[in-house]
Amino acid sequence: MRTSPVWSPEQYGTYADERARPFRDLVERVRATGVRSVVDLGCGPGALTATLRQVWPDADIRGVDSSPQMLEAAAQYADDRLSFELGDVREWSAADLDVIVTNATLQWVPEQLDLLPGFVRALRPGGWLAIQIPGNGDAPSHAILRELANTPPYAEYAKDASLRPDVPGPAEYVDVLSAEGCVVDAWETTYFHLLSGDNAVLEWVKGTGARPVLQSLPDDVRVRFEAEYGARLAEAYPQKDYGTLLPFRRIFAVAHKKG
Ligand SMILES: C[S@@+](CC[C@H](N)C(=O)[O-])C[C@H]1O[C@@H](n2cnc3c(N)ncnc32)[C@H](O)[C@@H]1O
Repeated sequence: MRTSPVWSPEQYGTYADERARPFRDLVERVRATGVRSVVDLGCGPGALTATLRQVWPDADIRGVDSSPQMLEAAAQYADDRLSFELGDVREWSAADLDVIVTNATLQWVPEQLDLLPGFVRALRPGGWLAIQIPGNGDAPSHAILRELANTPPYAEYAKDASLRPDVPGPAEYVDVLSAEGCVVDAWETTYFHLLSGDNAVLEWVKGTGARPVLQSLPDDVRVRFEAEYGARLAEAYPQKDYGTLLPFRRIFAVAHKKG
């Protein structure tokens, strides 16, 4: 069974600026006007959801997330136009929305493509669905994670937690969302994040991709795993005078529901 990670808003907040950039690039392609209702599915700690207030100043904005820890952190941004609620995207439904944004979330949901028709139904005609997911499953950060998680002594605890579903590429999003009556703009980008600090890539993945594995390990084993994983990452992503470069592929799809 895959473990559902317990999220740490603090750890996820490391490198917040680099993590924000794909969100900004995604939202920039949503050409909606007169926006009144927006939902951010998998809103996490809410900082990026809160930026949508400037993008759509007349909109009522709702963040939905399945992690109580993330929602606790998000509560600081709530106001009369911005609210947050506990919910699982697999069971979520709504109607007549102008915009749905879901950023860096659907990669955790193996059946994500099956959810897309429901997301489109939740939009009013002319509404917009904006999706971004990491497409870095083959990157050294994840390949090393899987290799270690399948090696003793970690495999006993972590073997299943290291599995991550294959994620769709841009063409699959175009295919599924076009069939739902949308005009789709899909693309991929590799960002070259320049990270400061020691063990920068380890600190980055501790906030996201490596969480299920780390959480599956007993405390003493986790310490050893982090040391070994960190050393391998430092080799794969060498720290230079100017920082540590983390190439990171991301996949985007912006669907405009026909009116
Ligand atoms: C990497 S964070 C992204 C948070 C935010 N969208 C951002 O870009 O900063 C992934 C978020 O997805 C949420 N999540 C994962 N699976 C979910 C599900 N099935 N339903 C709702 N939220 C989910 C997690 O709780 C977490 O907050």
